[in-house]
Amino acid sequence: MKIAFCGKGGVGKSTIAALLCGALLEEGYQVLAIDADPSPHLGRLLGFEDPEKLTPLSEMRDLLAERAQKQGPYYTLNPRIEDLPERFMLTRDGLRLMVLGAIREAGGGCACPEQTVLRRLLSYLILRAQEAVVVDMEAGVEHFGRATVVPMDFILVVTQPYRGSLETARQILRLARELKMERVFVVGNAVRDSEDEAFIEATLGKRPLVSFPEDPEVLQAERAGESLLELKGPSREVARELVRKLKTHGS
Ligand SMILES: Nc1ncnc2c1ncn2[C@@H]1O[C@H](COP(=O)(O)OP(=O)(O)OP(=O)(O)O)[C@@H](O)[C@H]1O
Ligand SMILES: [Mg+2]
Repeated sequence: MKIAFCGKGGVGKSTIAALLCGALLEEGYQVLAIDADPSPHLGRLLGFEDPEKLTPLSEMRDLLAERAQKQGPYYTLNPRIEDLPERFMLTRDGLRLMVLGAIREAGGGCACPEQTVLRRLLSYLILRAQEAVVVDMEAGVEHFGRATVVPMDFILVVTQPYRGSLETARQILRLARELKMERVFVVGNAVRDSEDEAFIEATLGKRPLVSFPEDPEVLQAERAGESLLELKGPSREVARELVRKLKTHGS
């Protein structure tokens, strides 16, 4: 399954993406995590030592363009995860990390080429049953404008129970409807109680698939620069529940 996390800046996309990667690994999945944020952070949360040394996916542009025109050296068939060139990946125990890497020049503007690379890669990639791709999208809605999200099986819209993030979530839900995407779910974060959850549901007209609590363990790990894969507390439990629910919705 191909899963993308979207939502307003700072709502917890990277945190929940990392927690989901952990729960998928625990279930025996091979996981490819793609950090599509221009200020990449996911690698650290997944406990990779030097994610900044990775060759960004944006440099795969030529490779993919070549494939689009003719049968290039790497892509004689639609690739499987293990066919992707090693230099774009960090690998550890069933987990692979890629970064889109769109460190744009100041005033440089458009992220179109990076979004195109990502969309092509996501469309071409063929997954086996116990394989998952988890994409941590850039905050906001640009990837909807560029239809980067279309190849995904699941769109998970992360929101906290306050108006700012709910407004962005509402916008994303509308854009996803326009793109006729089917498996689009709301994921609550920093949800304290059933009242918070009811507020999300009332505002968006959609009940969160799962809701993560405000978790001091998450905050502490982030501050200490530790991997979220080691967490054992309530967030881990909700991430497991999220995997179960994604499986029941199939892909
Ligand atoms: N459930 C939670 N409990 C406690 N802290 C959390 C929780 N979720 C996120 N945080 C903290 O909130 C901050 C923002 O989270 P995160 O980086 O995951 O958000 P984001 O949506 O990826 O942000 P950005 O849009 O900047 O990429 C982090 O410091 C993180 O540790
Ligand atoms: Mg993030």
